[in-house]
Amino acid sequence: EQIEKGGYEHFMLKEIYEQPSVIKDTYRGRLHANEGIVQLAGVEDNLEKFLNADRIIIVACGTSWHAGLVAEYIFEEFARIPVEVEYASEFRYRNPIINKTDVVIAISQSGETADTMAAIKLAKEHGAFVFGVCNVVGSSISRETHAGAYTHAGPEIGVASTKAFTTQITVLTMIALRLAKAKGTLSSPDFHRYLQELELIPDKVKEVLETNDVAKEIAGVFKDSPNCLYLGRGYNFPVALEGALKLKEISYIHAEGYPAAEMKHGPIALIDEHMPVIVIAPKQGHYDKIVSNIQEIKSRSGKIIAVVTKGDTQVRELADYVIEIPETSDALSPLITTIPLQLLSYHIAVMRGCNVDQPRNLAKSVTVE
Ligand code: G6P
Repeated sequence: EQIEKGGYEHFMLKEIYEQPSVIKDTYRGRLHANEGIVQLAGVEDNLEKFLNADRIIIVACGTSWHAGLVAEYIFEEFARIPVEVEYASEFRYRNPIINKTDVVIAISQSGETADTMAAIKLAKEHGAFVFGVCNVVGSSISRETHAGAYTHAGPEIGVASTKAFTTQITVLTMIALRLAKAKGTLSSPDFHRYLQELELIPDKVKEVLETNDVAKEIAGVFKDSPNCLYLGRGYNFPVALEGALKLKEISYIHAEGYPAAEMKHGPIALIDEHMPVIVIAPKQGHYDKIVSNIQEIKSRSGKIIAVVTKGDTQVRELADYVIEIPETSDALSPLITTIPLQLLSYHIAVMRGCNVDQPRNLAKSVTVE
C-alpha cells in the first residue's frame, strides 16, 4: 500500500497532487487549442442529439452532483442550452417530466451508483438520449448509457472525491465548448480564449498546490472549530458546496456551503467570533458583491479565510487569512478554487486524527439504495 501511495501519507493527498496530470490526461487528444479544436468521440457521434436538445438534465449524487452544478452554469453560459441538475435519488422517485428531446447526462466516478443507475433507466424508458461521464472504464453506468466520455482520473481510492471532480468538470467544459462552437453561441475570440485557458489549467493547479503550507497553517488554527461556513457566488457557489462536503466527510466538522448572497437569509445568524467562514473571492466573478459579503461577516466578527486572486489587496485587508490562486476566467475558476479547499479539509482531518482515506460510515461507491 505504501508503494501505491507513491510516497504520500494518504491516497487523498496523492490524488489531490495528481490533478495537474490527470486533468491533462483528460483533455489530451481531445483539446487542441492552437487549432481551435475540441472534440470528444461520444459527442461527435451524437452531435445532432445534443444540438437538437431542448434541455439537458444532469443526474448524479454527491461530489458528482456538484460537478453537475458547475456544468449547469457552463452549459447555459457557453452553449445557451437550459440545464437542470437533479439528485438522482430524487429524480427517480418523483415522476419527472422527461421528453424525447431531452439529453440526460449522468455523472459518476465509479459508474456504479445505484440511484444514478436507476435515473438512467428511467430516462431511457422515456426515450431520452443518455450520455455518461464516468471514470471507471466498463462500469455499469458506462455500459447502460447510450454514449459517453470518460474522465481519465485513474483509480480514485480516497473516499472523498478530489481528482474525479476536477476531471468531470474538465470533460463537461469541453462538451460545452464543442456545443458552443457548433451553435455559434460564443464569439470566436471567446471560444479560442477558453480553449487556451483550459490548456493552461494544469499549470495553474500546480501553482495552487504550492500553497499547501498556507492551507496547513490555516488548518492548524481552525481544526477545533465545531462549525464552518463556505460561501461563493456564480461558478463558485457549487465549489462552496463541495468545499463544505469535503470538510464534513473527512473531519466530521459540521460545514455548510451557501451562495454568498443567501447568507443574509439564515446563516448570518450563526456568525460570531467562533465561526470560520471560507469565502471564494476570485477577482473575476462578482468581486464587488463578494467584498460586501465579506464586510458583513467582518462586522459580525466572523473569522474570514478567503481564496483570492494573486495580487488582491481589497479582500486581503478584510480577511484573517488568504490563499492566493492564479488568475483565470470566471467560468474555469472552479478547477482552481476547489484545490485549496481540498487541501484545507485534508490537513484539518489529519490534525484531528481522522481516517482521511476511509471516513466512518461512508463508502467509495454506493451500489445499494
Ligand atoms: C459516494 C462517494 C462520493 C461520491 C458519491 C457519488 O458517496 O463517497 O465521493 O461523490 O458516492 O459517487 P459516483 O461514483 O457516482 O460519482
